[in-house]
Amino acid sequence: MAANPQFVKYVDDHQADFIDRLRQAVEIPSVSGNLDYVKDVEDMAEFLVKQLTSLGVKVEKRPIGSHKIGDTEVALPPVVIGEIGNDPKKVNLLVYGHYDVQPALKEDGWDYDPFKLTPDPNGSGRLYGRGSTDDKGPVMGWLNVLEAHQKLGLELPVNLKMVFEGMEENGSENLDKFIESEKDKFFKGVDVMCISDNYWLDTKTPCLTYGLRGINYYEIKVQGPARDLHSGVFGGTIHEPMTDLIAVMSKLVSPSGEILIPGIKELIAPVTADEQSKFEKIHFSLSDIEGAVGAQTTLSNDTVKTLMGRMRNPSLSLHGIEGAFYAPGSKTVIPAAVKGKFSIRLVPNLGIKNTTDLVVKYVQDEFAKLGSKNKLEVYLTHGGEPWIADPNHYNYRAAHKATVEVYGQEPDYTREGGSIPVTLDFANILGLNVLLLPVGRGDDGAHSTNEKIDTSNYINGTKLLGSYMYELAAIDKN
Ligand code: BES
Ligand code: MN
Ligand code: MN
Repeated sequence: MAANPQFVKYVDDHQADFIDRLRQAVEIPSVSGNLDYVKDVEDMAEFLVKQLTSLGVKVEKRPIGSHKIGDTEVALPPVVIGEIGNDPKKVNLLVYGHYDVQPALKEDGWDYDPFKLTPDPNGSGRLYGRGSTDDKGPVMGWLNVLEAHQKLGLELPVNLKMVFEGMEENGSENLDKFIESEKDKFFKGVDVMCISDNYWLDTKTPCLTYGLRGINYYEIKVQGPARDLHSGVFGGTIHEPMTDLIAVMSKLVSPSGEILIPGIKELIAPVTADEQSKFEKIHFSLSDIEGAVGAQTTLSNDTVKTLMGRMRNPSLSLHGIEGAFYAPGSKTVIPAAVKGKFSIRLVPNLGIKNTTDLVVKYVQDEFAKLGSKNKLEVYLTHGGEPWIADPNHYNYRAAHKATVEVYGQEPDYTREGGSIPVTLDFANILGLNVLLLPVGRGDDGAHSTNEKIDTSNYINGTKLLGSYMYELAAIDKN
């Protein structure tokens, strides 16, 4: 069933109001995992509560315990849950989004204040701001859908439950426990789930995403002297922690992207013929990556290899070294203790546990070979399992129809390289088919400087979320 034409018209007529809603959301710098922004994350939850309440949703803010930021124990951001409609004849849809964002400072290289939604002065329709695409734009999209129905006096075609969290960018701590404890309460009766927290692969082809890589994040801590030392006085005299750390970190991954930890490659599932053909069908060119990256630096010139490198193979990235000297100038210091940070994106067969066993053994073995008298520890800081769903489920068929309706073209079927660890928790604990339905484009720059969402994606994305509900209401479930 196509979306109600009144709904589509309402969205077209209220673009300015919808952009204003996103502007208000972006202005709240809800950076999770940072003591300076704890209050803003709270404010963002409150903003959602107010909006949803005024849109006729039954809303609750649920505490989910506390966590440590540095040495300070603070409450975790609340989970905002809402529900509207309980007609036993309708499909019960659960949607998820996150209201926290990655950090952003103008000095990082933003052209505008990251926490002021700024339309491109050149008239391209791009709306710049932290969270514009990840994930405030899509979350506001759901609110826009609700507003249209409320103002038009239209009933929603489905019963809707919503769950919005404020800790996604920091590992969704305790959300799994919340899902477990609400399984037979708030989440009871849910039929299917939709998460809008991903992006098209390129800048023009809509897609439906049925897989995500998982992630294991690690730290390697090397400790030596009791305090930072003068390199003139002690250089050449002691085992230096930073030298040990770099020696070990350099053994993790080759410059061509090959993971050097024995046993990992062997676990990757072989590519099936069906998979190969799925990857070959995806609309994608190297220039799409180069456009998003802003340079010609791909590991391979082959499109399918590149896509597989992102979606179905693991990757290992080195992120940083805490405790190292990094400021401008030339301080002649020997850092006393350093922590190297890296992560591995996980794929089917490479789980949190078996991967960690291989990593820990290898790092310890490589360190032992150095013959250093320093102390090394290697440990997992957080892990999320990979997820893959059945793209033939009626949930996907409904989204497919909605995509054709709004964009006039068939969506690509993609898996993604990024991670939303709770996807698997929702799928497993609640036994649900989960659909990832993107709003933004591949060059939106989530986590990067000048993150943006295109006005057309935001507005058509709102229509897409609405149309999907109508298609879901009418789809043949067999
Ligand atoms: N929206 C992203 C996940 C994503 C990234 C989906 C790229 C599709 C493509 C999400 O907000 C995110 O950034 N996730 C983190 C998870 C981590 C903090 C556990 C990620 O992927 O690094
Ligand atoms: Mn996100
Ligand atoms: Mn993110």
